[in-house]
Amino acid sequence: MNYHGFNKNELALTVKNLNQLLADYQVYYQNLRNFHWNVQGENFFDLHAKFEALYTDARLKIDAIAERILTLHAKPMSLFSDYLNAANVQEARGVETDHRMVLEILDNHKILIDCMRGVLHAAGKANDEGTVDLIGGFLSDLEKSSWMLDAWAVRKVDVVMA
Ligand SMILES: [Fe+2]
Repeated sequence: MNYHGFNKNELALTVKNLNQLLADYQVYYQNLRNFHWNVQGENFFDLHAKFEALYTDARLKIDAIAERILTLHAKPMSLFSDYLNAANVQEARGVETDHRMVLEILDNHKILIDCMRGVLHAAGKANDEGTVDLIGGFLSDLEKSSWMLDAWAVRKVDVVMA
């Protein structure tokens, strides 16, 4: 039943961008788990917990993105091999220090934020307020956690030089 009153063509770009966001979020999620497990050093307790909070949040958002795609009567990408092919977020390899991990997460956030803006643009054009509402909330959450990670990553030497 066409309960939302859209036609498929109007939503095609939104669905494509939501699937791109889903793929990027899945790789981002695994990067966070990787860092949660492998972080070492004096910031272990802070970052181990912070990465867990971020991946727990990401897991909920991944589910919401996939279910939004289904709500729009389309199919969410569901295979990990497809996510890896589609994602702009890259698997984090060889990222070993706590500082590099935080910078890598910030880099992932930049990709996700760009992708969210693409979703918002397409959904806005299609008058798809439900997707705008959902992803708009995700965008402001991600901007806020990016600010916090960016603040964490400032080193004393950067502050002195600024
Ligand atoms: Fe754990």
